[in-house]
Amino acid sequence: MFSFTHLRSLAVRGAPRAAKHVSSKAPLASPRPGHLRLASTATAKSPMTLPTFSMQNKVALVTGAARGLGNEFCRAFVESGCNSLAIVDLKEEEAQKAAEELKTEFVDNGTFSKGELNVIGIGCDVSSEVSVQKAFKVATEEFGRVDSVVASAGIVENYAAFDYPFDRIKRLYDINVHGSFFTAREAARRMIPDGGGSIVLVSSMSAQIINVPQPQTPYNASKAAVRHMAASLAVEWAKKNVRVNSLSPGYMLTKLTRTILEHDQELRRTWEALTPMGKMGEPEDLKGAVIFLASDASKFVTGTDLRVDGGYCII
Ligand SMILES: NC(=O)c1ccc[n+]([C@@H]2O[C@H](COP(=O)([O-])OP(=O)(O)OC[C@H]3O[C@@H](n4cnc5c(N)ncnc54)[C@H](O)[C@@H]3O)[C@@H](O)[C@H]2O)c1
Repeated sequence: MFSFTHLRSLAVRGAPRAAKHVSSKAPLASPRPGHLRLASTATAKSPMTLPTFSMQNKVALVTGAARGLGNEFCRAFVESGCNSLAIVDLKEEEAQKAAEELKTEFVDNGTFSKGELNVIGIGCDVSSEVSVQKAFKVATEEFGRVDSVVASAGIVENYAAFDYPFDRIKRLYDINVHGSFFTAREAARRMIPDGGGSIVLVSSMSAQIINVPQPQTPYNASKAAVRHMAASLAVEWAKKNVRVNSLSPGYMLTKLTRTILEHDQELRRTWEALTPMGKMGEPEDLKGAVIFLASDASKFVTGTDLRVDGGYCII
């Protein structure tokens, strides 16, 4: 995520509800027509894919999901068969609006029939542990459990180190680092009694490289913390069947970055020139990665960092 103000200044310088309290791992709804076929006997009409990538019968929760990459992760989950999903974001009305939009879109396009897809929006400030606990309470009261959690809420600001006001640095760490920790901790608390689950913390390639030309030291450090947090938690919870991995995007063309870069083609050229694939990623380029980490396809994968960066980090 990018702060308009600071990147600009840089440019100058340079349905019916699913049953409540469903018993552990019980199917939540009857599979939609065509979906079982996908998992068992694929036909010419249904694309063949590994059944372990399916998100059917899984309950997912994504923070920072009212827009941007978090919202894209939600779309990936629904496209992979998830019909019980919580969209968590700072403002409740925005989370609920995003939930309604998602339901309408996937019912209108025929992926689900009306009433089969349950998406709820929950307001939550991830920098407050109490707020995170309340959000999980709402989600588990609605769906009975949670299987796959993605911590995508995060902010970035571009200040030179000497100019960065401390209260803003603190806020950034509160959201990016502590918010990820609170989300992971509450997810694991809920998952362990239910037999386990998968947690994906959204880090960044900035955990490994130094972005140029924009100065963003606290952000880079926060994302390095998130990556190492995922590995550390993975070890703590490995025997409890809770997997924790991090996902590290490179420069992605979200609506926000697209708008910013329209006014700064030079910055876009710089970023693309530094990326071996010579372009920025589309948000949908992350779909396969998040589904891999969140689903049973990665059931022996924990503590890893999956970079999706067009090769940025390898040179
Ligand atoms: N966009 C990129 O190019 C890129 C690259 C690498 C990593 N990332 C990471 O991906 C994640 C998502 O980024 P994005 O580009 O979608 O950003 P975005 O600004 O489009 O979306 C972030 C979402 O998080 C929410 N949010 C912010 N503070 C919150 C809080 N305290 N509590 C709850 N929700 C809060 C926002 O309301 C927003 O909906 C971030 O962690 C970011 O660091 C993004």
